[in-house]
Amino acid sequence: MGLTEGSRVERLPWFNQSFSNVEEWFDTETGKFFMKTICEYDFPRGSFVEIGSWQGRSSCFIATALKYCKQYEKLHCIDTFNGTTNEQVHRDIFKAHGDDPDWLFRTFQNNLKSYELETQVIIHRLPSTEAVKTWNSPIGFIYIDGDHEYEAILQDFESCQILVRGALLAFDDVPS
Ligand SMILES: C[S@@+](CC[C@H](N)C(=O)[O-])C[C@H]1O[C@@H](n2cnc3c(N)ncnc32)[C@H](O)[C@@H]1O
Repeated sequence: MGLTEGSRVERLPWFNQSFSNVEEWFDTETGKFFMKTICEYDFPRGSFVEIGSWQGRSSCFIATALKYCKQYEKLHCIDTFNGTTNEQVHRDIFKAHGDDPDWLFRTFQNNLKSYELETQVIIHRLPSTEAVKTWNSPIGFIYIDGDHEYEAILQDFESCQILVRGALLAFDDVPS
């Protein structure tokens, strides 16, 4: 990707942010790698998309890089904000929040707002399969971190047919 060691972007003040107030499901090292890549890679024209935002940690890193390096390009965040219903840990967290169906969505919005990133994202509160049905613009970057079941990942991957040449695709927790 032509990334350089100790590059200019890493010395910029905003690059030091680690969004530590947002629950840690996405580590800082990966976040910095994403920010550096987004700033230094020469993307083809196309939308920036994330499937699976949870409380907004990965969204904060990506949206910040877009804000400072890509002329305020926005990040499309696709998430049901219901948690991954086939993951016990997600069901337990919802239970701990009184099974309030909106706590995750509110938390995501509040977290983005606390870092002045709320206008940097476009929220699609939908299952990814529904969101991609109406998607008609080319994609230049996609981060897939939704449902981690093999079939679900495959479906999300297949929805990437609208990736433009030179686009970047990243996955989290792909089962082997
Ligand atoms: C592992 S979490 C994402 C973590 C997030 N990237 C971060 O930085 O913390 C997975 C997210 O995918 C969402 N999700 C699960 N299945 C989905 C589906 N079919 N469509 C859209 N979102 C889904 C869940 O609501 C949850 O917020």
